[in-house]
Amino acid sequence: MLFSRYLDNETETLWLAGQFATVLKGTGVVYLHGHLGAGKTTFCRGVLSAYGHSGAVKSPTYTLVEPYKVGGYQVYHFDLYRLSDPEELEYMGIRDYFEDQALCLVEWPSQGEGVLPDPDLHVRLQADEGGRFLEIESSSDYGRNVLVDLENFLSETQE
Ligand SMILES: Nc1ncnc2c1ncn2[C@@H]1O[C@H](COP(=O)(O)OP(=O)(O)OP(=O)(O)O)[C@@H](O)[C@H]1O
Ligand SMILES: [Mg+2]
Repeated sequence: MLFSRYLDNETETLWLAGQFATVLKGTGVVYLHGHLGAGKTTFCRGVLSAYGHSGAVKSPTYTLVEPYKVGGYQVYHFDLYRLSDPEELEYMGIRDYFEDQALCLVEWPSQGEGVLPDPDLHVRLQADEGGRFLEIESSSDYGRNVLVDLENFLSETQE
């Protein structure tokens, strides 16, 4: 299943990410795709602030992962841009992060190919005419349910 929407500005990215966070309920594996500056970290900030996180959200480029405990959820934000070898993920105990109840948001997942668990959802962001074109695609039954809930949730909260 595919959800798509044009986001005019940063505020819209944060808002949509917040709606997505609400239906996700703090669980799942989400890969975030897009060029440098496409808005992946902004999207993660929108998810985290929907759960009650009020501080900054820095891309954990050097530490690879930043844990957050917010709103009763365990969220791990990965940025694998500087990962040189997917095996490094094994050394840092990657499996412990992908526990059943956690939400894992992964920027630059292609860098961890072969070691990362399969995603439930792909978030794709593309800069376009000043704004961002967003696509969210499900790749598991759970992910599909999330997108069905998102469509329903948005149609209830709008108009
Ligand atoms: N819908 C939007 N329209 C225009 N600008 C946006 C939109 N959403 C986010 N931005 C802006 O785009 C920039 C994206 O930066 P961000 O750090 O989120 O990108 P990123 O994809 O995480 O990059 P990197 O690959 O370097 O980690 C920010 O300056 C943000 O304000
Ligand atoms: Mg980023």
